[in-house]
Amino acid sequence: MSYPDIRPRRLRRSAAIRRLVEETRVAPAELVLPLFVKEGLTEPKAISSMPGSVQHSRESLRKAAHDAVSAGVGGLMIYGVPADGNKDETGSGGLDPDGILNVAIRDVIAEVGDSTVVMSDLCLDEFTSHGHCGVLADDGSVDNDATLALYAEMGVAQATAGAHMLGASGMMDGQVGAARKALDAAGFKDTAILAYAAKYAGAFYGPFREAVESSLQGDRRQYQQDPGNAREALREVDLDIAEGADIVMVKPAMPYLDIITRIRDRVDVPVAAYQVSGEYAMVEAAAANGWIDRERVILESLTSIKRAGAQIILTYWATEAAQFLRDRY
Ligand code: PBG
Repeated sequence: MSYPDIRPRRLRRSAAIRRLVEETRVAPAELVLPLFVKEGLTEPKAISSMPGSVQHSRESLRKAAHDAVSAGVGGLMIYGVPADGNKDETGSGGLDPDGILNVAIRDVIAEVGDSTVVMSDLCLDEFTSHGHCGVLADDGSVDNDATLALYAEMGVAQATAGAHMLGASGMMDGQVGAARKALDAAGFKDTAILAYAAKYAGAFYGPFREAVESSLQGDRRQYQQDPGNAREALREVDLDIAEGADIVMVKPAMPYLDIITRIRDRVDVPVAAYQVSGEYAMVEAAAANGWIDRERVILESLTSIKRAGAQIILTYWATEAAQFLRDRY
């Protein structure tokens, strides 16, 4: 039997040919940098479980925002951490126009204006004394509908502070619709919503809990998803889009690449993925031990998330990766 001598290696022979046929490229504009700012800090403070990342002071936050924009980063996601002792049962610091998150949004907008997309976390967990993403009912469970009323007010406060896009991350049912309705009623029809649509109750958020000094005891399994469930993620995404989500996100990213692909194939809105703190910490720890090539693993991880179908990636390496990518292309 004769057959043509087909050799896939022809297209891998030189760097120039490989570049010509490369299917997936990550651009700096597709990366979003999550940033932590803590009330009352005068100097940035290291986060031990996230080597290289810090809790910012208001001043260092502005500088980090500026540096990200200079590197071409497409967006910033701001998380506020109240001063020690400044949390309460209802997370009122998150709604306060002078609370750290709203102050930080104004600072960052003053620094970068419309040159990048300024996003803020629409969730109460950084501000509640019990660490849950909403307020508690008498039986200790998270009260979905009472929480929605607070998210509505919190969202309007963030839009008033100047946020371009709100990250609805609390996994309450109806949260996107509640925020959309409140924004529209307050005249913020153009403030967009990034829905953390498929957010899993996994263990990859551990370092983040240090970063925001979370008070959480227990877990979030009554509102975030079970890691084994895929169809349920599609249902969450459909609901968020019906409620008015402008972008839907999968979180974490690398352990859930199949979910990213299934959502990409299903919807027409932009799909984002969040490379979370545990993904970051694993790579930093292995690299610090000399076990992996840090820069290559960072770029390979971002490429895999993009290849799976995410066109926007939240990553703590956004500024640095943007610089690597600029040198590359
Ligand atoms: C909730 C929120 C969390 C993260 C982002 N938004 C924590 C959680 O769900 O427990 C985690 C991000 C990360 O691990 O990098 N406001």
